[in-house]
Amino acid sequence: MLKRSDVRNFCIIAHVDHGKSTLADRLLELTNTVEKRAMRDQMLDQMDLERERGITIKLQPVTMKYAYNGASYTLNLIDTPGHIDFTYEVSRSLSAVEGAVLLVDATQGIQAQTLANWNLSREQNLKVIPALNKIDLPNADVEGNRRSLANLLNVSENDVILVSAKTGEGVGALLDSVIEKLPPPSFSEVPTRALIFDSFYDEFLGVVAYVRIKEGALRAGARIIFLSNKEKTNVIEVGTLAPQRKKGEVLSSGDIGYVVTGLKNLEAVRVGDTIALDSGELPEPISGWKEVKPMVFASIYSEGGEDFEELRKGMSKLKLNDAALVWEVERSRVLGYGIRAGFLGLLHLEIIQERLKREYGITTVVTIPGVRYELLMTDGEIKHITSPSDWPEISSIREVKEPWIRAEIVCPKKYVGAVMQLIHERRGEYRATEYLPAGEGEWSEVSILKYFLPLSVILVDFYDQLKSVSSGFATLNYELDDYRPADVARLDIFLADELEEELSMIVYRDESYRRGRKVVIMLKELLPKQQFVLKIQAAIGGKIIAAERLSALRKDVTAKLYGGDVTRKRKLLEKQKKGKKKMALRGKGSVVVPPDVYLKLLKG
Ligand code: GTP
Repeated sequence: MLKRSDVRNFCIIAHVDHGKSTLADRLLELTNTVEKRAMRDQMLDQMDLERERGITIKLQPVTMKYAYNGASYTLNLIDTPGHIDFTYEVSRSLSAVEGAVLLVDATQGIQAQTLANWNLSREQNLKVIPALNKIDLPNADVEGNRRSLANLLNVSENDVILVSAKTGEGVGALLDSVIEKLPPPSFSEVPTRALIFDSFYDEFLGVVAYVRIKEGALRAGARIIFLSNKEKTNVIEVGTLAPQRKKGEVLSSGDIGYVVTGLKNLEAVRVGDTIALDSGELPEPISGWKEVKPMVFASIYSEGGEDFEELRKGMSKLKLNDAALVWEVERSRVLGYGIRAGFLGLLHLEIIQERLKREYGITTVVTIPGVRYELLMTDGEIKHITSPSDWPEISSIREVKEPWIRAEIVCPKKYVGAVMQLIHERRGEYRATEYLPAGEGEWSEVSILKYFLPLSVILVDFYDQLKSVSSGFATLNYELDDYRPADVARLDIFLADELEEELSMIVYRDESYRRGRKVVIMLKELLPKQQFVLKIQAAIGGKIIAAERLSALRKDVTAKLYGGDVTRKRKLLEKQKKGKKKMALRGKGSVVVPPDVYLKLLKG
């Protein structure tokens, strides 16, 4: 098979914060892709938010030129996000390249996403170059971690390249080994197939796709078709990224670059899809495409309540560039209009909330995130429910299922007991434990705990708890497993016998008494006193499981009386009592719950 021997396509993969973006910066400098004076930290993280928080949200490809042993090479690098919410983007970037640099922080050692990324790259049959980063730091355990990384990949310790992405030490040697060790892409003229590994919407250009040309070629004017949805268009422009767009004549088999499609809808150009030429017989799509589905659902309201139009506009704009984001308008009696949205995970949710604030000036409040339940109804229908307010009558439900995840937790052996206890408390189902020979100190032995867990239990404070029981050492990676039966029900809250729909929540039945009690006690503390004794009740399917009473506001009707006119005082108090009775009889139900009380409760 023909090879493009002067081209190397690769990714950098690593656990969060192990230094991918910083290493990419050094590579850009070393190859003079970006002039030193134009260089800024984390060059490939183009969003302000990414730079500030030091996390990569969107991956970003770049083409670099590098001279080695008298020959000139084109190196296409894809910087990838490290967080689990964006694993799909990592896996698609991996299928666009032939090799990867697996980067491990020498002060942290192998962590959950190191393993997840290593597994992903093995699935794609990629050649992997192990590299240990941050060797400049005094607390780096270079020898220990070098040994464990070599063991993990089953290579010699000398094959692990030592670098400091900060000082630049070792980065040249790393580039050399990219050329020496990674295979060049193969070349084939037909049929044209390009893998979309990212896409974004530009106001002027429409949707721009980042592609890897597997076979054939793409040029401006070509009539193309997207194989998953059969959408067609004409290519407006092609080119490479340096990292800014650089217009070119053609993208050929083995190249990585961009295609301006002119399409106005990001949905038409989905990550993982294949572009082919719209002529003759269509080729098979490149395998591995899947539709990314939101896993976590929550409602978003603007804090003031009145800025709904702004919120709606902001969400519409964000959606243009985020095909994984799904949302619809919803209305709450108390909080007004808001948005019910689905996200890939908690970080995704947080990013959307932060972008709304930053880019559109909208401060938002978000309700407790939940999952999508699958309900088998007594009439045989299957319903998918993401919001407690849509939960049907208890008697019409035959079975409820909830999503489970396959989780891997990596932590030093000494914390295994505490971590396991936490997971058991959260309904975890044990799968296996594996061990990694690791570095020194805390990492002298590393365990990989494998569990099944319901997704819903990790949505609230699981990460914080995990960090707290492991002194910050444990890391988690997960993927969606399957739907399993769940013994859950809708917990309703009644105030003065009226259902407060916004306060309903889906709970595990065996936790319902505890949860119900907690809410009624919180409400008793948070609600202002009324003119009458307020009944606060929690119920499941009409059965009261917890109740409290908030005593009535006792207006001091005798305050205006001076001296000791006892009879008059008694008369006034009697009158007040009668009035209250009347009010209670009239069933004075309409308790006004202040929005901040709702929000405090919804946030748990
Ligand atoms: P994500 O994109 O969020 O996955 O992070 P990342 O892997 O891109 O990590 P990033 O490059 O943002 O680096 C994380 C932190 O480590 C930053 O504060 C860097 O300055 C620092 N850092 C990266 N490499 C080195 C290094 O070799 N030495 C030292 N001392 N610090 C480094």
